[in-house]
Amino acid sequence: MASSIHFLMCAPDHYDVDYVINPWMEGNIHKSSRDRAVEQWQDLYHIIKDRAVVELVQPQKGVPDMVFTANAGLVLDKTVVLSRFFHKERQGEEPFFKEWFLQQGFTVHELPKDLPFEGAGDALLDREGRWLWAGYGFRSELDSHPYLAKWLDIEVLSLRLMDERFYHLDTCFCPLTDGYLMYYPPAFDAYSNRLIEMRVPESKRIVVGEADAANFACNTVNINHTVIMNKASAELRERLEQAGFEVVETPLTEFLKAGGAAKCLTLRVTEPIQPLLHGAATIESRTIRLEGHLLDSGLINRALDLIVEGGGSFQVLNFQLGEQRQSTSQAEIKVTAPDHNVMEDIVSQLIDVGAVAPPQEVCDNPLETVELDGVAPDDFYVTTIYPTEVRVKCEWVRVQNQRMDGAIVVSETPEGLIAECKLLRDLKKGDRVVVGVEGIRTVRKTEARDQRSGSDKEFGFMGAGVSSERRVELVVEQIAWELRQIRDRGGKVVVVAGPVVIHTGGSEHLSRLIREGYVQALLGGNAIAVHDIEQAVLGTSLGVDMKRGVSVRGGHRHHLKVINSVRRHGNIANAVEQGMITTGIFYECVKNGVPFSLAGSIRDDGPLPDTQMDLIKAQEDYSRHIRGADMVLMLSSMLHSIGVGNMTPAGVKLVCVDINPAVVTKLSDRGSVESVGVVTDVGLFLSLLVQQLDKLTHVYQVAQTV
Ligand code: ARG
Repeated sequence: MASSIHFLMCAPDHYDVDYVINPWMEGNIHKSSRDRAVEQWQDLYHIIKDRAVVELVQPQKGVPDMVFTANAGLVLDKTVVLSRFFHKERQGEEPFFKEWFLQQGFTVHELPKDLPFEGAGDALLDREGRWLWAGYGFRSELDSHPYLAKWLDIEVLSLRLMDERFYHLDTCFCPLTDGYLMYYPPAFDAYSNRLIEMRVPESKRIVVGEADAANFACNTVNINHTVIMNKASAELRERLEQAGFEVVETPLTEFLKAGGAAKCLTLRVTEPIQPLLHGAATIESRTIRLEGHLLDSGLINRALDLIVEGGGSFQVLNFQLGEQRQSTSQAEIKVTAPDHNVMEDIVSQLIDVGAVAPPQEVCDNPLETVELDGVAPDDFYVTTIYPTEVRVKCEWVRVQNQRMDGAIVVSETPEGLIAECKLLRDLKKGDRVVVGVEGIRTVRKTEARDQRSGSDKEFGFMGAGVSSERRVELVVEQIAWELRQIRDRGGKVVVVAGPVVIHTGGSEHLSRLIREGYVQALLGGNAIAVHDIEQAVLGTSLGVDMKRGVSVRGGHRHHLKVINSVRRHGNIANAVEQGMITTGIFYECVKNGVPFSLAGSIRDDGPLPDTQMDLIKAQEDYSRHIRGADMVLMLSSMLHSIGVGNMTPAGVKLVCVDINPAVVTKLSDRGSVESVGVVTDVGLFLSLLVQQLDKLTHVYQVAQTV
């Protein structure tokens, strides 16, 4: 008998299944046999007594689950953190356990009243004493973990439970002597599994299957090299024996009916502090604020889901509901995450949905200095398409040149503080870059649901995302109307087009749009220009006769001939001015002073002299053209459209037309209300668009003459 090891048990005098607070109890009310329970408990008691000292706490009437002494509290050395039961059915046990600990001379810590924590049922010491594994998700609150770390001066590793059958950590997880760990991985979320795998080498992990888990194999009492449990399969027994354990099975079926077994029925009350322990909970908490049409727009749900899915937990501290339909609401939410990295991940996603830190708390978002040209500090904040503000000197400073996937550089100039988005490659040694996410917010137009779908609102219905054939005509009507508005007020429309525009016969329509002033810049690759010019000069597109739709003999050489001719003229503009090109998209661009930019790629033939093969220059060129755009029309070019999408800030209307739904979905997934996808043939789309614009012109003329 190892007399230095003591367990606390409680005889089952009053044990029964009287209520249902876990799935095992369902259908088992008053179904357990007291006699058999007493017998099974006695057997367990003797097995343990042969190997350790058993102390007893007096059973009490009216609290049948008091047999499960694991839930009395969490002990380390002469300190105990008492349980705060989640269910009122068990709260009656608290004073009796407290009394017992006080009598034994323990220092007793009690958690705040509304912070559930269920003792050694949810907190298990690594048997080498290196850290504490603590579960949350069903009975214990993640927020209790920092208290454990502080009071017991130990590192706490938080594990999130996912399967309600395994509602306490000790039902699916059992640290063993020599650094072994017996556990049932599906009971935990992915993040927790990763954490476990990082701490326990594979050779020490004893994974149990569902059948063993359901027999409460993980609910094992471990005394040195003995493991005592309800039941083990042959494989599990073999695996444990291999690892040097003596396996003792003792049936505890009557207690399984209440959702407990060997380990639940005991509490190890001698847990000496092992040398080399340091208290350092990695848990972090932060408060964020959300404002807007929180309920109406579903924003609050989205935010809370993000927190939980990201592996954290939350507490809503303050919620002020807007009085009227149109007024906004405010919520303050305390976010807790198991470690710093998880916290940063969660908070950056919350920022994307518009969360802010309470201003009184952060005056300066941390900045770090760039040490190497073109390389940001590790922790740099990655920008999104949304208008962003950063906290500097207790002020919110609006970030300039907003775009996705950049870093924010803050500088002090004689004119004041400036924050701007920069691409990694543009960072210079000495630049001060925003790191972390403490003082950052994105400014979102949050619209109430009924506002968003209002038919009087331009583009109102488009938030719906992707339109397929049936709705194409309707969408085209809206786009035509919008194009007309933009043109009339001198706005800016940028067209991104792929060569499919030419192959599908869209060239004449796009040419018209340019001629009639609906397009202010054209972006594309080498191919659209080559095919457009080939069609203008030779009547074919990639050697196919555009009028008859058949291949022309020798036609496959056409496009190279065309490239060659343009090269002779020096560039497209010269070829137009010197009469080589007399119709087509690029002809119209040159004639109407509409700037274009062609970005090269590895597959380009030629290329045309106008094609920019230096991609960094091409990207700069594109982004210059996009600046100030009201609308971007993306016509069947996956590569260039996605490139443009990344450079375009929120607020710019994006229309993406492609026959491939995947491209359209990818672009309209930006989550901004202003983007719309149209799945259709681009030639057809353009012809409908031109027709629709003609109709509008007619309506305007009629209106003027009346
Ligand atoms: N019926 C008890 C409850 O649901 C069982 C407790 C089992 N204890 C444990 N440490 N897993 O609370």
